[in-house]
Order: sequence, then structure tokens, then C-alpha cells
Amino acid sequence: MSHTMVIFGASGDLTSRKLIPALYRQFQRGRLPNPTRIVGSARSPFTSEQWRTQLAESTAKYVKGEFDNASWTAFSQNIFYQPLDIGSDEDFRKLGAFLTEVEQSQTTDRVYYLSTMPQLYAAAIAQLGKAGLNVDTDGNRRVVIEKPFGTDSATAKQLNESIHQSFREDQIYRIDHYLGKETVQNMLVLRFGNTIFEPIWNRNYIDHVQITVAEEVKVGRRGDYYDKAGILRDMFQNHILQLMMLTAMEAPVRFTGEMVRNEKVKVLQAVRPYKGSDFAEFGVRGQYTGYSDEQGIPDESQTETFAALKLYIDNWRWKGVPFYLRSGKAMSCRTTQIVIQFREPPHMLFGEHKSYRPEANRLVVQIQPAEGIQLDFQSKVPDSDMKMRLSNLDFRFDTSGKELPDAYQRLLLDVLNGDPGLFARSDEVEQAWRIIDPIMSAWKSPAAPTLFNYEPGMWGPEEGVEWMTAQGRSWFDVCPVI
Ligand code: BG6
Repeated sequence: MSHTMVIFGASGDLTSRKLIPALYRQFQRGRLPNPTRIVGSARSPFTSEQWRTQLAESTAKYVKGEFDNASWTAFSQNIFYQPLDIGSDEDFRKLGAFLTEVEQSQTTDRVYYLSTMPQLYAAAIAQLGKAGLNVDTDGNRRVVIEKPFGTDSATAKQLNESIHQSFREDQIYRIDHYLGKETVQNMLVLRFGNTIFEPIWNRNYIDHVQITVAEEVKVGRRGDYYDKAGILRDMFQNHILQLMMLTAMEAPVRFTGEMVRNEKVKVLQAVRPYKGSDFAEFGVRGQYTGYSDEQGIPDESQTETFAALKLYIDNWRWKGVPFYLRSGKAMSCRTTQIVIQFREPPHMLFGEHKSYRPEANRLVVQIQPAEGIQLDFQSKVPDSDMKMRLSNLDFRFDTSGKELPDAYQRLLLDVLNGDPGLFARSDEVEQAWRIIDPIMSAWKSPAAPTLFNYEPGMWGPEEGVEWMTAQGRSWFDVCPVI
């Protein structure tokens, strides 16, 4: 079977930085279906040859030491370019003819990758439908949609409806690159490939869960986009809720895309909805000092660059267990971690003083960087009376010393092979907005809780720490140690 990936928005940053390097790396490893043709489309009037030359340079830069001329020459033979304006029916007709020509009448699975500005997603899809490029009688037709998928519930629903006019749900792949990360998938193996964790993975043993995605970077050149999005849209509605779903879901009956997604959606359905007065109590919002001096940010911007939320999942497994979700730009270090904080022992026998409270068990799943797992537990201090100390067991996900494959490598291969398991379904995206929408509106309203400032390089605003302390808990503010 032959394959074609058509990339709309081909002259953009994502294409050169992520998509082409990922496809090239899979080609080098012999994993890309043979043949896989790549057809770039954008308004810039390149020839195929000019686009290949540009991509050779950018790919060499982004794959670093992995670039070699021989494999690039072989790979790039299947790279083509066809200029296209998304508003033009005629250009889509030409694209159709061009694809038929490069595919040489072979039965071909075709993937349309929308890497354009999000405002153009619906128009591009409608044009594909109008030109008949959505019909999969001679090979499958699939469409990949980058985030952000809508800007709230209503727009996500609208987008789903307009895509469904041209493509069936099983043809639609909504990408969330966090699901392509090795350690995110390992969360399922950790939970459902072992027997020791599952019996204690519930409200009887777990006090709370913390999911932190901290970034050291600031908004940089993405000010225009970021100031409209803010951290809730940029990180929570997608990546962080995905991490929460994998942490909280029930075991699927079988490991199929549909069954896994069914279980994930149930987690979102069980999230307790917030009401107006809840918002001050259930979240903290912050902005780093200097944010409004960045390019494209208005002086008076009230956009959050940090947020911490407390969500409850009202089901048998999790009732009463808070999930603390936190993310920020300009934080102390880059770290994504899921911390399972277990309860304290019910009755303390050891310790010098009766008031001594050792730290309870904790499982730290380090998603990135320094991918791995750490289990903290108490042990006896040798040659002491019955003094305890915190000890740990470490597991390093990859000991080869090489970098883990980029998330796009796995996801692009899955879409070429027609495996939707690591992509978001329409109901998943809509449910995620259902959770985020009311928080966004409350934080935009005149009664919004204070937007606290924090200095870059901190773990967010001081008030976020106090908020946690007031609940008798503390953040696991540790840069990756494994
Ligand atoms: C993107 C966000 O989706 O994810 C960015 O738009 C963020 O703001 C990025 O920096 C984080 O991805 P990763 O893979 O570096 O954790």
C-alpha cells in the first residue's frame, strides 16, 4: 500500500521543526511505510526542488547528529510541493490532480495534515470535501488537526460539526503531542502491566495527586497567540487533562483505541463542575513579572502564565481525592511530573517524638526530562534507635543515554498506519472544554480572583504555595532528580 502525507501550512515552523524531522527519522529506521510521499502545500510559490533544499537545511539542524546525505537523498525523492491558497477552489482541484499524478494511480492511504493557522481548519476541511478529496474508495483518507481545537466548548463543537460534514469521526486525528511521549504511554504500562500498583491506586491509599508541567521558557515570540490563549487553553485543556485521564482512568477491557478512549472520557465526565463562588477556592492564577514587556503583549494584559487548579473526580475510585494540576512559564526548571502522594500510615509507631510525622510514601512519575520513576519510602537509619529517614527506589526509563524519540515520530507513524488510539476523540475534546470553560469565564469576569505576580525562576506565585499549605499539603517542588 502506498501512502501520501499532504501538509497544509507547509512553510510553517511546525513542518520544518517537527513534522519533516520526525518522518525522516522514521525513514532512516526503516519504519515509514514504503513508499510514503510527502506533499507540502502553502501559499508560498516554491517548486518541489526549492522546498526540498530548504528542508534539507532545517532537518539537518533539528535532527542534529542524525542527519546523513545518503538517507536524505533517498527520503527527499518522495518530497513534493504544490502551492495552494485555502480560499481557492481551483487550487484544490489542482492539488487533486497533482496528487493523482505523484501517486501514479497506486491505491494510496492519504493523510491531510492541517498545520495552518487554526482559523483556517474549517475552511480547509470544507475545501477537501468540496473537491472530493475526502472520499476513501481508493485507499483511506484521514485528516490530522493540530491544537488548539477550538477556543472553548462552543467553537470546538462547531468545528467538530463542520469537520463531520466532510469526514467521518474515524477519519479524524486530533493531535495532542503529549500522547506521543514515551513516558506518557508508559503510564498505562505502569498501571496495567503490573499488579502491585493497581490495588493501592485509589482513595483508600492515595491522599492526593499532583500533576505539574513547569517550563523554564517564557512566551518568547509567541506573544500574539499566547496572550489570547493563556495557560488554561495552551496547556490545561489538552496536555494536562490528558495526563490526568491516564492517571485516573479505569483499565480498558482491551488495549484498543476505542476502548482506551472510552475509559479516558469517563474520567472527564466525572470531573466535578465548578460554580461561580468556587473559583477563588479551587484555583490560583499568576503572571510572571515582565510578561507585558514581551513582544505582542499589551501593557495591561491580564493573561495567566501560571495556573494551579484543584479538581475532584466524583467516582468510586477517586471520590474525595484532590487532583492538583499546575503549569507555568518562566518557572524554576523544565519538568513534567505526576506525583502520587499516598496517605500517612494510620498509626505511627516510630520516631523520636510522638509528634514526628515522617513523609508519607510518594510515587513520582517523571514524564520529562530525565524520564523515570521514583518511589519514596521510610527506612530505618542504620545504627540508630528507631529513627527513620526518607529513602527511594529509582527507575530510569532509558539507560542508553540517547534522547528518547520525539513524540511526533510515534504519532505520525500511527496516523499513517491508521491507528487512532493516541489521538483525541470529538467527545474527549468537548468534555475537556466543559471543564475549562467555566474557569476561563470566571477568570475573565470582573469578579475574577487576583492575578498574582511571580518572579521568573520561581515555582509560581507565593500565594500558590500558601494556598497549598492552607490545605495541609505541599507542592513537590523538585527539579528532575532521577
Ligand atoms: C505546546 C504549547 O502545546 O506545548 C507550548 O503550546 C508549550 O506553550 C509546549 O511550550 C510544551 O511541550 P513540551 O513537549 O516541550 O512539554
